[in-house]
Amino acid sequence: MSDNKALKTVSQMRSYDNSLMLCERAEKIIPLASQTFSKAPMSFVRGASPLFIEKGKGAIVWDVDGNDYIDFMLGLMPIILGYQDKDVDNAIIEQLNKGIIFSLACDLEIKLSEMLVDLIPSAEIVRFAKNGSDVTSGAIRVARAYTGKDRVAACGYHGWHDWYIGATARDIGVPKVVKELTKKFEYNNAQSLEDLLSMHKDEFACVIMEPMNAFPPEPGFLSSVREICDRHNVILIFDEIVSGWRPHLGGAQSLYNVIPDISCFGKGMANGMPMSALVAKKEFEKTFEDIFFSGTFGGEALSMAASIATINKLKECDLPSHMRQTTAILKDGMETIIADHKLDHLLHIGGADWWPRVMWKDHGGLDPLMAQSLLVQELSESGLLIIAGGLNLSLSHCNDDMHQMVLNRWNDAIDRFSNIMSASDPVAHLRGEAIQPVFKVRG
Ligand SMILES: Cc1ncc(COP(=O)(O)O)c(C=O)c1O
Repeated sequence: MSDNKALKTVSQMRSYDNSLMLCERAEKIIPLASQTFSKAPMSFVRGASPLFIEKGKGAIVWDVDGNDYIDFMLGLMPIILGYQDKDVDNAIIEQLNKGIIFSLACDLEIKLSEMLVDLIPSAEIVRFAKNGSDVTSGAIRVARAYTGKDRVAACGYHGWHDWYIGATARDIGVPKVVKELTKKFEYNNAQSLEDLLSMHKDEFACVIMEPMNAFPPEPGFLSSVREICDRHNVILIFDEIVSGWRPHLGGAQSLYNVIPDISCFGKGMANGMPMSALVAKKEFEKTFEDIFFSGTFGGEALSMAASIATINKLKECDLPSHMRQTTAILKDGMETIIADHKLDHLLHIGGADWWPRVMWKDHGGLDPLMAQSLLVQELSESGLLIIAGGLNLSLSHCNDDMHQMVLNRWNDAIDRFSNIMSASDPVAHLRGEAIQPVFKVRG
């Protein structure tokens, strides 16, 4: 295969000039040039992939250079129906005409709480906040106050606050005494939890875990966790910030019928508006009232209105069945294209049945980040916004036209990627700066 086959002429290729210009400006005054690690330029191929987005509609976004992409990041999952969803946007506009936030509570808080109680098995009482980190930290405070114990067993990612981030590789700035209190256990390994709780007997307040992540829990894992928590007298918290809504509107707890004591929801619950929920069984009501869990923007009405409209629409359309159908079609089509290009020794499409994931089997002799950079570069060139492998889906991705468009673009990207990988020096085909190692939060 000739090296030239991989190359388009410069005039045929997408330009990222405006992205680069904005990035230079941002870097002078915004550390990381972004508010979010996974959206920062270091996670992309600077010069050969977009760095700034201007607008979105349905499943499509446009970058600041006018290039369009089928967006599989979706703002890191809050977009669940699609950008500019008419029903949600109308609900926001209607509320905007009444006011954004008030000096007393508003009735939307009650309406939304009632909806969550109907939908989520562990929800008998409900509080709201703005971010996932708010509600996971609230859950930990409730558990510590309720039990009078300090230690936390964690599994997955739970946000940026001290109690959790102190247990990760990026623990700088977290006091030693705080770090000591949170220990991780392994997903799909109930024995690792048993060992941890036994090591510091009667010192753990709670177990917090993502009940489901990119891969489903193995049969019996969640019920073993529940049994271990009961036996050790430890509160079980499910962090359903990712597993809420897409696989099941009532979260993984509904799907697997394992009911935690406290749960955290967020991300997709308001189609992009900042909204999260901390829900629990009634027995925690007094503790919820006694701890300090309070913020200026709690109960902000635009997000409440957006959330009510979003959840109503999710219920009407049976989102989980759309997610599964689209996942099956994309997995099958993308796998076939990989095999047609004889790249099945390098890539495959795995992940949960509602969340496809581009996975590497081998990096073809390249440094993993270099191989990833070359793939991201060609995905960007073909109009697919995918980083770190996961294909986050919204309702707007779930139709025949979109499936076909994704597969056409995937074919186009894989065509060029396969030429690059069979060239004598694949690295010479990188047109920008390689992706830099980012903080790996899961695992
Ligand atoms: C499972 C899980 N928990 C908690 C969080 C933290 O949420 P936020 O970034 O909204 O604070 C995230 C964010 O990605 C998450 O995926």
